[in-house]
Amino acid sequence: MQRSDLPLEFVRVVEMAAIASAQTMGQGERKHSDHVAVEAMRRELESVDIDGTIVIGEGERDEAPMLYIGEKVGRGGESVDIAVDPLEGTNLCATGSPNAITVLAAAERGGLLHAPDIYMDKLVVGPDSAGKVDINAPVADNLKTIARTLSRDIKDLTVMTLDRPRHEQLIADIRAAGARIRLITDGDLSAGISAAVLGSGVHAVMGIGGAPEGVLTAAAMRCLNGEIQARLVMTKPTDRERCERMGISDLDRVFYTRDLAPGKDISFACAGVTDGNLLKGVRFFGYGIRTHCMVMTTRPHQVRFIDAIHARESASTRFRF
Ligand code: FBP
Repeated sequence: MQRSDLPLEFVRVVEMAAIASAQTMGQGERKHSDHVAVEAMRRELESVDIDGTIVIGEGERDEAPMLYIGEKVGRGGESVDIAVDPLEGTNLCATGSPNAITVLAAAERGGLLHAPDIYMDKLVVGPDSAGKVDINAPVADNLKTIARTLSRDIKDLTVMTLDRPRHEQLIADIRAAGARIRLITDGDLSAGISAAVLGSGVHAVMGIGGAPEGVLTAAAMRCLNGEIQARLVMTKPTDRERCERMGISDLDRVFYTRDLAPGKDISFACAGVTDGNLLKGVRFFGYGIRTHCMVMTTRPHQVRFIDAIHARESASTRFRF
């Protein structure tokens, strides 16, 4: 079992990445926002007592200077695989739009799929519909199932989908089935987390987004008892080779939650950068900074929300709560 203090260490890591990127909010520089989040996350990970290996990160070693796949992080200790998205929704941060978050998941060695950075078709639902939907079934059938398991009409469902031309048919199918849609410009990972939390107003996420975000969604679903079903989508000639290099040979395979995140000891931490469905964004004020995080584990099975004030050293006597 993972050390009980580790998830709280991970909270510190996502908090620092959130503070760094939130300082750049609205500057219109998505790469810069991502860069400062990566730097902060990398720096903070150095002080965590783990022997960590990045399995989902900023890319392959030759394309990312930090948090690349295979990079070792931590100052020694328990062996863990780490998946990160230092800033999920770089555009959302750059434009000051809702739902930008910083994310880290960890598991024992082999507990998170090493997925290539390609596209993935996803269906994400909450605990009531988990095990009852089928990514191979028509959209209308899945919506009927989700409505039944949530004891409501299809017209009372809200599906989140990335607003992309590739989803023209999917959007038409959801509309034809009668469900409501929230089209989002970015951020299908935070959307997926919302789908598994009661009261968020999101009942499913459907459509194609990034595969790394799919693995992180699976780690969150393990903690929330939700479900993701997914299939890799090849769009570039090099995608097949990238999959094979990562040991994935059946390219039509449907991946279920436990295929993407099979670990026994999964931790998942995320922090709001901008205000969102579940988390408040970072707030800066005279004597400090306030952050809002969600941290979850499979053993023990816990979900915590952490609202923290980080007082500035020079102003700590003015601290108020
Ligand atoms: P970034 O955090 O890299 O900006 O990605 C955000 C995101 O919207 C993900 O949530 C989603 O899975 C993916 O990009 C979709 O990719 P694309 O923008 O190519 O459709």
